[in-house]
Amino acid sequence: MQALKALKSAVRPVTVSLRYLEGRIKARRVTVSMTQQHYRYPEHKELLLKDGHFFYDGATHGPIVGHILFFGPYIPLPPGHYSISFIGEIEGTIQLRLSKDCGFMLKETEISGINPSVTLKVGKSIENFEVVGIRTPSLKRATIKTIIIDPLSEQNAARLAQIEAKRFEDGLRRDLQDRAEAIDAGRNIVAGYRRGIGLALGGLIPTIKKDPDWIAAMAASRGRSIVSQYNLMNLFLIIKYSNITGNIIEFGSYHGGSALFMAALAKRLRPGCKVFALDTFEGMPRTDNHLDWHSSGGFTDGKIGELEQIKEEEGLDNLIILKGLFQDTCPMISAEDARFFLSHVDCDIYESARYAIDFSKEHAVPGSYIVFDDALVADCLGLMKAVEQDLVQQGIHAEQVSPHLVYRYPPVSL
Ligand SMILES: C[S@@+](CC[C@H](N)C(=O)[O-])C[C@H]1O[C@@H](n2cnc3c(N)ncnc32)[C@H](O)[C@@H]1O
Repeated sequence: MQALKALKSAVRPVTVSLRYLEGRIKARRVTVSMTQQHYRYPEHKELLLKDGHFFYDGATHGPIVGHILFFGPYIPLPPGHYSISFIGEIEGTIQLRLSKDCGFMLKETEISGINPSVTLKVGKSIENFEVVGIRTPSLKRATIKTIIIDPLSEQNAARLAQIEAKRFEDGLRRDLQDRAEAIDAGRNIVAGYRRGIGLALGGLIPTIKKDPDWIAAMAASRGRSIVSQYNLMNLFLIIKYSNITGNIIEFGSYHGGSALFMAALAKRLRPGCKVFALDTFEGMPRTDNHLDWHSSGGFTDGKIGELEQIKEEEGLDNLIILKGLFQDTCPMISAEDARFFLSHVDCDIYESARYAIDFSKEHAVPGSYIVFDDALVADCLGLMKAVEQDLVQQGIHAEQVSPHLVYRYPPVSL
């Protein structure tokens, strides 16, 4: 599939861009590890050129034929002066080509000795900067630990950071929205990988933590959620970037943390979107002692009064709190409001989950997200059984399995 191939080839450059950006914010100097080159060497490993061969992490990567791409392409450089330093040692000489757009020459020079550096003046913005090395007959050995690009001015660094951030945001938005070429068996496989891998390997985490919407929503939830930060991050990505619309329903709100979080996000990002928070607020109902780990003694301190007060303080008039059993409160939602693009099922037990899934399916907008906070955790086999019966066995495939289970219902068809 084209879109998936594009995503696979994009995953590493995107991660790289982020590190690049982070480095830039922390210090005026940007350290560019060898990962940022075309060959995608693992990070923090040095490149060795010796006897006409190049080695990486002690292993031979073959003879040097033609040139070695040290850095780039796809690195943007705004106008300004730069110094490009090679941290390491070169015995003999490497001919260096600084170019753009896969070969258009900007500067050609030679480097040798300890930590050599060259300067470059960029007149017009460059989209795809690259640094290529060519072996000369004099080259005996080179050990390059890292390459540093120093923009030589704060203003330049800030512009570069801005360009990088925009590229990252545009790419993320494209990958997380439904497009025909991203769909496989009724789910957006590109979005599932992008969110799942981005959270599992951490590539998306620094961006999310800096996002003003994330920061505001976390503040509004007042630390009241027992949902893991990564699961909240995934809800954030769905609410912020999905291109389908409707209301949100949560089955199991307890102290209201995830409900406040979603309501604060919806208020900022989705005009008119209501968030329904459902719970007994007095603890688990009767459970199946044989199947469920949880029993009716759990979660008895729901504190709905505090939740109502925080809702007022935060101005979350889009949050509707419904106290009682799902079976009794769901029918209170009007037909007009019962159009959900996201169901957050966080009720841990079999019977409750079956009802939640049924209701969600009945009132789903096309391609809605049904998210299970705990289906894959050790003490929720009852919940997982409901997922298997009412989704998996109905031929519905998961869009995401990490950090929590995400399904699309009715299956996406574009
Ligand atoms: C894990 S807690 C929810 C955590 C919450 N989402 C948060 O942000 O911390 C599970 C909740 O599901 C509720 N629950 C389970 N089955 C229910 C049902 N049938 N009707 C109402 N509430 C239910 C329990 O009362 C409990 O508070």
